[in-house]
Amino acid sequence: MKAIIPVAGIGTRLRPHTHTAPKVLLPVAGKPIVGHILDELVQLGFDEVTFIIGYKGDMIRDYVTSAYSFRANFVEQPEMLGLGHAISLAKPHHYADEPVLIILGDTIFRADLKSVFERGSTALGVRKVEDARRFGIVELDRNGAVKRLIEKPDNPPTNLAIVGIYYMTRPRVLFDCLDELIAEGRTTKGEFQLTDALQKMIERGEKMGVFMVEGWYDCGKPETMLQTNRDLLDAQLKDFSGYSAVADRYPGSVIVQPVAIDESVRLENCIVGPYVSISANARLKNAIVRNTIIGENAEVSTILLEDSLISDNAKVQGRRYHLNVGDSSEIILD
Ligand code: UTP
Repeated sequence: MKAIIPVAGIGTRLRPHTHTAPKVLLPVAGKPIVGHILDELVQLGFDEVTFIIGYKGDMIRDYVTSAYSFRANFVEQPEMLGLGHAISLAKPHHYADEPVLIILGDTIFRADLKSVFERGSTALGVRKVEDARRFGIVELDRNGAVKRLIEKPDNPPTNLAIVGIYYMTRPRVLFDCLDELIAEGRTTKGEFQLTDALQKMIERGEKMGVFMVEGWYDCGKPETMLQTNRDLLDAQLKDFSGYSAVADRYPGSVIVQPVAIDESVRLENCIVGPYVSISANARLKNAIVRNTIIGENAEVSTILLEDSLISDNAKVQGRRYHLNVGDSSEIILD
C-alpha cells in the first residue's frame, strides 16, 4: 500500500519552534508529529511513502530514513504553491491505477482505515464540526456520495469538514485534474487547492464517498499542539501498563500520569505531570511541570512551568527565594 504525505510547509504559526525544525518533527506525546502517522501506516502494512518536502526537508529525510524501513521517496516542492500543487509533484511515483492514501503531515488521526481499504472506493475522511465556516466541507447526495466540495463557506450547507485524509483508488484521474488546474492557473486564496481538483473529479463523473474520522488531532498552533499532547497521552493511559516503571526511574521525584518521558531524561527533585512530554537527554531540576512539551537536551530548573513549549537545547531557569518572614505577614511573589 502506498501513501503521499505533504510536509513542505514552513509552519509559521509554530514559530519560534519551526525556526530550527520543520513542524512535523516537533515532538508531541513522546514522538515527532509525523512519527505518530508513520507508525500507524506501518501497522496497516504500508510499504511505500512519498514525502513532498521543502522547508528543512533534509531533516525530514534523515528522520524517515533512519527510523523506518519502508520505501521512501522524497520530492522537493521548491515554492509553497498550495496543497494541490504539492500533491501534483507525486505524479511520477503514483500515476497508476493503484490506490494511494494522502495524509497531511501535521494531522494525527484515528479512523478505521482497514474498512475504508476493504470497501475499495475513493473516499474522503470527514468529521462533524461545530463551526464549518473555517473548513473545506462536503455536501452529500441522497446515496451518501459527495456532490460538492466547498472551501470555507459563509453559509455552510452541512457540518461535515474535510480533515486531511484522502483515499484515492484512481490517482491517475486526480493527477490529471491537478495538472489541468495548474495549467489553467486556477488558484483559490492564492494557492492551488486540492479541494478544487477533487471538485473537478466529481464533475468528470468520478464516484467519491466519505468515511468518518473518530480522532482528529491538529498540531498547527501552540494551543492545538498542547491539546493534542493531552489527548494522545490520555489515550495512551488507557492501554499502557508500564507507568510504575517510569516512576521507579526517578525515586526523588513525583510523576503524575499521564506523561511521556524518554529513558535518557534526568530528573532531580521534580514534580512532573500530568500531560508532560520530555524528549531525550533533557535535564530537569527542582521543577514543577504540567501540561508542557520539552525538547531534546533542554535544561529546566527551579521553576513552576505550565502550558509551555520548550524547544531542543533551550535553557529555562526560574528563581529561588530565601525569606525571613514575620508573624501575620502576607507576601505574594508572582
Ligand atoms: P498548512 O498550511 O497547515 O501548513 O498545510 P504550514 O504551511 O506548514 O503551516 P503554517 O500555515 O505556515 O503555520 C497543511 C499540510 O500541507 C503541507 C504542509 O507541510 C502541512 O503538512 N503543504 C501545504 C505542503 O506540503 N505544500 C504546500 O504548498 C502547502
